[in-house]
Amino acid sequence: MKLFLDTASVTEIRTMWETGILDGVTTNPTLVAKEGRKFEDVLREVCALGVPSVSAEVVGTTTDLMLTEGRHLREIHPSIYVKVPMTAAGLKATKILASEGTRVNMTLVFSANQALLAAKVGAAYVSPFIGRLDDQGQDGMELIDDIVTIYENYDYATEVLVASVRHPVHVLEAAKIGADIATMPYAVMEKLVQHPLTDLGLARFLKDWEKVPKG
Ligand code: E4P
Repeated sequence: MKLFLDTASVTEIRTMWETGILDGVTTNPTLVAKEGRKFEDVLREVCALGVPSVSAEVVGTTTDLMLTEGRHLREIHPSIYVKVPMTAAGLKATKILASEGTRVNMTLVFSANQALLAAKVGAAYVSPFIGRLDDQGQDGMELIDDIVTIYENYDYATEVLVASVRHPVHVLEAAKIGADIATMPYAVMEKLVQHPLTDLGLARFLKDWEKVPKG
């Protein structure tokens, strides 16, 4: 399973990249706005680290604007995936961008039928937002299960990118279902590393080691 960071913070990305567990990065306009930096500068820095998959979102709402922005974004670096929203205009743009060889991440997906359409137009990734569904009282993980089943039924190559992840249990459940990717905030990825028994165990080992005769 691939693990992505959902952030536009180059510091966070660099730190996680150095651990060796990071496979990619997703951004969105809200995350970019938080950083207060030029989007292209951020994208170039992240790609220069060697991160192989960096999702950058278009903000145009017509097919023409999405195509112009998408073509510009993909020229920035070969690791860029163009993020396009799940709308009728977005489906049309995705079909064209995909036919040109651009890898598209279809975002703001909230139903299995939307995910089916994303696969039909050739999206490389589909991004169902499970946390936002949970917030509404709907089980986001059920959606992941449905999408994985549908893609397996028809052998679609589109990868399921579990988005809007809020905590480690989301990652665990997504992995058990067999989702391809989970993207998460830095704090959630940090929690995947940690366990209190690891810390306690290490402290005890180090304490006991002091009793071992040296020299
Ligand atoms: C993914 O691509 C989105 O940027 C993200 O996961 C949205 O998460 P949120 O619901 O926490 O804003």
